[in-house]
Amino acid sequence: MERTAVIGSGVMGAGIAAHLANGGVQVDLLDIVPEGAEDRDILSRGAIARLHKTKPAPLMHADFAERIQPGNLEDHLERVAKADWIVEAVVEDLKIKQKVFKQLEKVRKDGSFISSNTSTIPRAQLTKGMGQRFERDFLITHFFNPPRYLRLLEIVPSPVMELERLNAFRDFTDRRLGKGVVICNDTPGFIGNRIGGYWMQCAINAAIELGLTVEEADAVMGRPIGVPKTAVFGLLDLVGLDLVPHIAESMLATLPENDDYRRVVAEAEENGIAAIIAGMIEAGYTGRKGKGGFYRLNRDGGKKVKEARDLTTGDYAPANRRVALESPKAAKQGLRALVEYPDKGGEYAWKVLSQTLAYTASLIPEIAGSISDVDKAMRLGYGWKRGPFEMLDTFGVEWFCERLSADGLAVPSLLAHGSPLYEHKTQLMVDGSYIAVPRAEDTLHVTDLRKASEPLASNASASIWDAGDGIALLEFHSKMNSIDPLTLEMVAEAVELVEMGDFVGLVIGNDGEHFSAGANIGLALFVANVGAWEESDKMIRGGQLAFMTLKHSSFPVVGASSGLAIGGGCEVLLACDAIQAHAETYTGLVEVGVGLVPAWGGCKEMLRRWAEVGPHGPMAPVTRIFENVGTAKVATSAFEARDMQILREGDGITMNRERVLADAKARCLEMVASYEPPEIATHRLAGPSGRTGLQMAVADLLRSGKATPHDGVVAGELAIVLTGGETDPTKELDDSDILDLEREAILKLMKTEPTLERIEHMLNTGKPLRN
Ligand code: NAI
Repeated sequence: MERTAVIGSGVMGAGIAAHLANGGVQVDLLDIVPEGAEDRDILSRGAIARLHKTKPAPLMHADFAERIQPGNLEDHLERVAKADWIVEAVVEDLKIKQKVFKQLEKVRKDGSFISSNTSTIPRAQLTKGMGQRFERDFLITHFFNPPRYLRLLEIVPSPVMELERLNAFRDFTDRRLGKGVVICNDTPGFIGNRIGGYWMQCAINAAIELGLTVEEADAVMGRPIGVPKTAVFGLLDLVGLDLVPHIAESMLATLPENDDYRRVVAEAEENGIAAIIAGMIEAGYTGRKGKGGFYRLNRDGGKKVKEARDLTTGDYAPANRRVALESPKAAKQGLRALVEYPDKGGEYAWKVLSQTLAYTASLIPEIAGSISDVDKAMRLGYGWKRGPFEMLDTFGVEWFCERLSADGLAVPSLLAHGSPLYEHKTQLMVDGSYIAVPRAEDTLHVTDLRKASEPLASNASASIWDAGDGIALLEFHSKMNSIDPLTLEMVAEAVELVEMGDFVGLVIGNDGEHFSAGANIGLALFVANVGAWEESDKMIRGGQLAFMTLKHSSFPVVGASSGLAIGGGCEVLLACDAIQAHAETYTGLVEVGVGLVPAWGGCKEMLRRWAEVGPHGPMAPVTRIFENVGTAKVATSAFEARDMQILREGDGITMNRERVLADAKARCLEMVASYEPPEIATHRLAGPSGRTGLQMAVADLLRSGKATPHDGVVAGELAIVLTGGETDPTKELDDSDILDLEREAILKLMKTEPTLERIEHMLNTGKPLRN
């Protein structure tokens, strides 16, 4: 699949086009010609231009926009003939969609895939009267918004497409677009929106019935049940309130007569919330894209104040961040503790979850072949920590059904026997049998290693696992995987284990959201506060030694990153021989944010990397490093990390999070045969004359107010390290000289009050202090 076409350049069309570009394919983005338009490509051209401004960024690298060609359906239809896959993302209107299909069908080449991004219209309606060729090649590919970030892709396949072709298509969306594919039956709203829509409607109704405020409802329906903190009302604001009646209408048009979704929609009419939402839409309160929604940011008076809407009066008042409910805290003891808690939050949680989970169970096998598909859809599409069936197991099926019956609610037949939904690696089917939960090929999970084996070594911050085929795996598992002396101990232990001969290579990575948020600065602050400078020195030397040992060991080390890999986390990656990064890796040397400089070899490694690629000379690379490190720049994708030389040529990028560890292991095995450890690098640096140049640039920033006084101090120390201290270009320094400079600089900074204030502020607020 090298060429694609996307039809419709609205919210979804533009987002899908961007993500196809992220996956490395060419895209023709075509839209209609607005009446009287001078620029006939204005819609798609405008959409491409907006990709650079949209937040969060749809493109993984600004240059990828060049892979998208604007055009229109009247003048450029013939371009569709070159496409291997055509995605339709025009308005949710059957007639319009079919009209577009007819146009496309005339020009598209044999063997191409054609798909619709419809959120609600069944496939059978879309293909009606469209002919055999269309029937064979047409699927529904339902992306979630925003397409780059939400991992779920629901596919309703063609019943007459050869299985091999379908598998090839699936494989493309999995490996090149990083999607978690769920095959759905052809039913309204597929899986995610059928359940998600029902859950939201129940949650809105129950909030009205029990008299909860929007803040109270969200405080229960978010984190405590393992749902993103936008919960329900926040989520409605995010997706846009105007979508609600639209989706409801479209679902009602096709749902079975006795479907319970109809009851909850009717309830919303009766309790008045449907009218309230209609009124809000009418008045422009469509959510974040409009004047606000259930929440809004009030900017009056210069300050941003988050306000919440009173559901009955429609008035806004400052949002209550700490709601007076105890039940959300009880959720720490589990879901049962939450729903049994005797306050209205507990009652609310039960009301919503009992209906949602029972409804979901009643939809098997109508909407999906297996319960694991449903759980996967809710995890990847709605960001739930546990899918509905996983939640049911947490409650205990028997317990859940008893309470359902006590409430006078019907027990779905799938649950009637009280059997657990998952057992070992199998899942319950409607006939009462258990079948294996499918696992994608070529994946590796630490969770599986943990279930099947004991770690080779382990402490509170990290563990070492046998990942098979002679590869050891070092997993960080402290909070945010921050690095402390215990982590460093495991780094040393891992090197020793592999050197001893049972293993041929090492992978560093994990299953979690983040690779590592860097050195444990809480510990650093503690040590500095008590003035234990010897301890500080030891921690810095310890890290330098551990990372040097990693780098110059006799075997290959591959860093498998994803999420945050910043500060010390980035330095771990720099110490590896190769990086296999998830595309969503956010990495950079951010130490200056807390008033420090990279001192676990980060400066040394950046000097080496830039010297390898040029531009050459004592100052040219240094200026780039100084800019990146001096502004704590973080790459917002693995592709951007290439521009910063954190990823080098030859380092790999994996689009699918599931595949990162397996790809890293494969990479490591590839490297074994011809592996030679890197030599200690030498550096010719400018010394004091170069340093003066950098300091002059900083002085300008200080004068214009773009840098704070302490920024100046930190930048000054960074300049000393990067220009080699008291050296000059005729002298040769080696890695250990740079490490000495890093250590001197960081120790000096740790003894300054403003640096300690920065660290403290970061620990308290999670944000940098500009002092
Ligand atoms: P949108 O309103 O942002 O974009 C619609 C696009 O259709 C525009 O580019 C418009 O110029 C084009 N269009 C309008 N009339 C047309 C016609 N007569 N012929 C050809 N093109 C025409 O809509 P959005 O949100 O991008 O939705 C597109 C599709 O994706 C819909 O089927 C929707 O149900 C689905 N969807 C939307 C999601 C969302 O969160 N917005 C999520 C998942 C699916």
